[in-house]
Amino acid sequence: MSILVLGGAGYIGSHAVDQLITDNYDVVIVDNLKTGHRQAVHEKATFYEGDIRNKVFLQEVFRKEKIDGVIHFAASSLVGESMEIPLDYLNNNVYGTQILLEVMEEFGVKHIVFSSTAATYGEPEKVPLTEEMRTEPESTYGDSKLMMEKMMHWCDLAYGTRYVALRYFNVAGAKEDGSIGEDHNPESHLVPIILQVALGQREKLMIYGDDYPTEDGTCIRDYVHVVDLVKAHILALEYLKNGGESNIFNLGSNKGYSVKEMLEVAREVTGKAIPDEIVARRPGDPSTLIASSEKAKRVLGWEPEHTDMRDIIGAAWRWHSTHPNGYDDKNEK
Ligand code: UFG
Repeated sequence: MSILVLGGAGYIGSHAVDQLITDNYDVVIVDNLKTGHRQAVHEKATFYEGDIRNKVFLQEVFRKEKIDGVIHFAASSLVGESMEIPLDYLNNNVYGTQILLEVMEEFGVKHIVFSSTAATYGEPEKVPLTEEMRTEPESTYGDSKLMMEKMMHWCDLAYGTRYVALRYFNVAGAKEDGSIGEDHNPESHLVPIILQVALGQREKLMIYGDDYPTEDGTCIRDYVHVVDLVKAHILALEYLKNGGESNIFNLGSNKGYSVKEMLEVAREVTGKAIPDEIVARRPGDPSTLIASSEKAKRVLGWEPEHTDMRDIIGAAWRWHSTHPNGYDDKNEK
């Protein structure tokens, strides 16, 4: 019996596959390689290149493989981009999930764990955020993930398809040995951008606003190490296998760091100056997002181990400094 990982060649998906294989699961990967990387596909996994919206293709995978459970990472995930091309986001994320749920139902696969996001909450009423708080997404991306959660809810009621939605906060870091990591093109996330400045690939870090109602005026986020994050997926699969009901969990480190604090840690870790400049706010950025991951701890027994930002940025630095061009780096081929 295998675990099907959709989006297993992407940043978080490839780390999840790595952990599943370390834990002796048989893994089947589906990825269309649009944002994923062929070099990130684990050599011990069975790989099918294709799009989850292609029902005939997906049925073929379920026919060939004995799928026990699904972990679904295959989605578009940039907040800003989702506001420019909302229909693409709805098509890939919502319609893609529709096809997946149809095929799961057809083949009697009843367990799914999938990536949701803190962006489902929108501007928080208060922090730390708990799962029962109001969800009013302010982006197509956040809303597409909320729609995915709701689709699964209705499938649970009708067909008994049980799901765990994992609402990620800010994911960063890389596998400790630096062999896999984050490689987006274009890059928009804070930690890789800071490290690209450290590598001399960008002139400076543009800090989007220092007039927020926070101590140093820059936005506060809750950064969680990708290696910790993926462990929650495996705990969630086991939870479903042991009869757990459908559920939603926040995944974060429960502590907030400002953009300026992250920059300071990166300067310390890399030993580089990393110039910066304060520029205008980026539209749609809430000032503070901090998770309460109490529920994940209580129900799944999940607790992040790497909550020191030096660990997270240090791991990301090992990846970026050895793969300055990401997976396109000649060393990788
Ligand atoms: N930032 C900068 N300069 C940059 C990049 C980012 O100042 O060049 C700031 C942002 O304004 C923000 C913080 O750094 O305050 C973190 O920004 P990221 O783009 O790294 O992450 P976001 O918090 O915007 O987004 C993350 C995930 C999304 C998810 C969202 C939930 O990447 O997928 O959290 O709110 F939807």
